[in-house]
Amino acid sequence: MRVLISGGAGFIGSHLAEAYLENGDEVYIIDDLSTGSLDNIAHLKTKSAYQKRLFVHIDTILNRDILMELVGTCDVVHHLAAAVGVEFILDHPMESITTNIQGTEIVLELCNKFKKRVLIASTSEVYGKHTHAPLVETDNIIYGPSSKFRWSYAASKLMDEFMALAYFRTTGLNVTVARLFNTVGPRQTGAYGMVIPRLVGQALRNEPLTVYGDGKQTRTFTYVRDVVWAFMRLVENPEAFGQVFNIGGVEEISIGDLAKRIITVSGSSSTIQFIPYDKAFGKDFEDMQRRVPGIEKVRKLIGFDPKTHLDAILTKVISYMRNRTDIV
Ligand SMILES: NC(=O)c1ccc[n+]([C@@H]2O[C@H](COP(=O)([O-])OP(=O)(O)OC[C@H]3O[C@@H](n4cnc5c(N)ncnc54)[C@H](O)[C@@H]3O)[C@@H](O)[C@H]2O)c1
Repeated sequence: MRVLISGGAGFIGSHLAEAYLENGDEVYIIDDLSTGSLDNIAHLKTKSAYQKRLFVHIDTILNRDILMELVGTCDVVHHLAAAVGVEFILDHPMESITTNIQGTEIVLELCNKFKKRVLIASTSEVYGKHTHAPLVETDNIIYGPSSKFRWSYAASKLMDEFMALAYFRTTGLNVTVARLFNTVGPRQTGAYGMVIPRLVGQALRNEPLTVYGDGKQTRTFTYVRDVVWAFMRLVENPEAFGQVFNIGGVEEISIGDLAKRIITVSGSSSTIQFIPYDKAFGKDFEDMQRRVPGIEKVRKLIGFDPKTHLDAILTKVISYMRNRTDIV
């Protein structure tokens, strides 16, 4: 099978590419390297068993001609290319909206033209400001005002979901939406504000771990290969077409406790420093206090049961970052 992965040189995309290559499939990647890196796929490009089955195009998904060729060539599309991460969105507001809305529009239009199965990577951010748990796919959505730019990521991804579902309803496109909660593992970068690599980097340098707010906000974390497993099954399952699925972990932890766990697991001598949100992100910032997924829907359909626990994930990330002195 030929698989196109937009954003395939990114964190999740590179693991997805690896899983398909392990399966014996051909993998086509399109990535503009805005937050991704060729380092993420260097080990795949040099492995002799994969060389003839991996094709990498450094380009933007906004380049319709290239994308048309790639979608036309492949059997299945995973659309992961997006402006990602709170810090990146706040620093590049216009570019982020264009990539996330116009980019997805082009991907969907071409998948529809060539009648290709497609999975759209969405985000738990679309739930907005809820504090109840678990969050389920049918929940209402509450956002802050448009002056608070962090919501532009949520709103743009929500538009992607609407577009995907509209194609399913009007043309029968085989499209599935996966709402990812915090996904973590080796190769994720802390450069754009992702919490685990950022805190692990600080722990390995024995610097204070900077926790934003009072550290009581909670999250769950899912290991990237558990997410990849779900993507590969959802994109093939006719019962998933036209549907939205939460994909996330079930172990809820506060960011303050996460920082303590990272110090323990890494054996660091770091302390924890709490930084008010307005100092970290400016006064317009709002955070969600709690974000826990209900995963019954995806569990029922494909048996999704994330097995990799937080300490095991942290051990993998710490070991990866220890060996990469350039990112620590
Ligand atoms: N990691 C998470 O916790 C998480 C949570 C929710 C949703 N997601 C979604 O999963 C997807 C992958 O995220 P990730 O964590 O791997 O982040 P990432 O930044 O590593 O991956 C995104 C990739 O898209 C590429 N890209 C961005 N704009 C592009 C463009 N215009 N053309 C081509 N390539 C472009 C980047 O260079 C990068 O390689 C994204 O759609 C993101 O919204 C991730």
